[in-house]
Amino acid sequence: MDSDTLLARITDYASRPNPYPLYAELREAGPVVWQAGGNCLIGGYHQIAALLHDPRMSADPRTRGEMTHKPPFLRLDDPEHHRLRTLTMRPFGPPHSPRRVDSMRGEIGRITEELTETFEAGRQIDLVDDFAYPLPVAVICRLLGVPHEDEPLFRAWSDAIVASADVRPDQDTTDTDKAGDQARIEMGGYLVNLAEQRRGKPGDDMLSAFANELDPALRLTQEELAETAVLLLIAGHETTVNLITNGVLTLLRQPEQQDRLRREPELLPRAVEELLRYEPPVHMRERIPHADMEVAGTRIPAGTSVILVFGSGNRDPRRFPDPDRFDPTRADNQHFGFGSGIHVCFGAPLARIEAYTALGALLPRLATAQLVQDPPPYRQNAMLRGPRHLPIQL
Ligand code: HEM
Repeated sequence: MDSDTLLARITDYASRPNPYPLYAELREAGPVVWQAGGNCLIGGYHQIAALLHDPRMSADPRTRGEMTHKPPFLRLDDPEHHRLRTLTMRPFGPPHSPRRVDSMRGEIGRITEELTETFEAGRQIDLVDDFAYPLPVAVICRLLGVPHEDEPLFRAWSDAIVASADVRPDQDTTDTDKAGDQARIEMGGYLVNLAEQRRGKPGDDMLSAFANELDPALRLTQEELAETAVLLLIAGHETTVNLITNGVLTLLRQPEQQDRLRREPELLPRAVEELLRYEPPVHMRERIPHADMEVAGTRIPAGTSVILVFGSGNRDPRRFPDPDRFDPTRADNQHFGFGSGIHVCFGAPLARIEAYTALGALLPRLATAQLVQDPPPYRQNAMLRGPRHLPIQL
């Protein structure tokens, strides 16, 4: 089959349950695979790693000439990215000792207990709606200082923003983009308003910390606060849910590994790393060269949309022995689950705690559980890939 239609085939909804054979085809087709639309795909582990650390690569959509508002720092380049990332991380505590996140452990345990209380044998649950979605949402709301009861309001915004951020090579995206922009403005306004209410009467949440920063050099502008708070709320909404759901799906498909984790719970942290490699929540990210450059002997002109397929790099046999095997004891597991380089996920410590707690609480209940539907129905999104529902008979 033609390699220049690979992106269209990968993003085709029919590929959602299992994109991995297409990723193998991508790695086979070459280090740089041009697509009919003029963009290119990179699926090899070593090329992806090199480009994520290459200062010539921009994360900013404006580098390919797209006229857009200033994006959140996920899509800005240094030095501006660095300034905003550092300011945003301040409430998380000093680097490498995330105090605030650590203090969330007890809370995460309590929320997990509450959600799993009614998971009794004989009952059918939807793991997504009954657990994997409400847990990270409650956690990020608590951390940011957003009233949990407003969740239905920002779930709609979150859906619209995530739909507009997906990779959709052969679709007219005008309407989705417009809806995404509108949702971003409304959600940003809502969060700025909440932050304003905390000025002078701070709680222990991030919006309070942003609103009450006294040092003008460390203060976010209103626009930056809106973009950053939206980014955090969306990141808390849309990724951890997939890690937990993909994790349970993988374990229900591989009962012998599940038994092993019940017998050796100390393997859980490594199993979570392996899940981030084997079934990552984020499958691809875009970068754009500032200037013409060469990758593995191929010239890539400035402004080209280069799609780095993390999900493929994670299964590259040149990096990971036996890559299609889920091995919770795998060592030397530097996956792209949280990205790499300057944009590496800073929510990773929080996401890891959530995943250990969730899987630790679910494992005893999964021993006799059955998947009701395999493969389960997936969400539309190809970039943030995961099941929309996961019905399980306990
Ligand atoms: C399992 C859950 C998560 C996964 C798999 C994940 C994955 C990622 C990945 C792959 C990136 C890099 C994107 C790129 O290079 O373009 C990223 C960045 C980011 N993530 Fe996460 N994430 C998760 C949870 C979270 C949480 C809970 C938060 C917030 C508390 C968060 C906040 C961020 C932010 C702010 C960035 C941008 C960092 C930057 O540009 O410097 N993430 N995440």
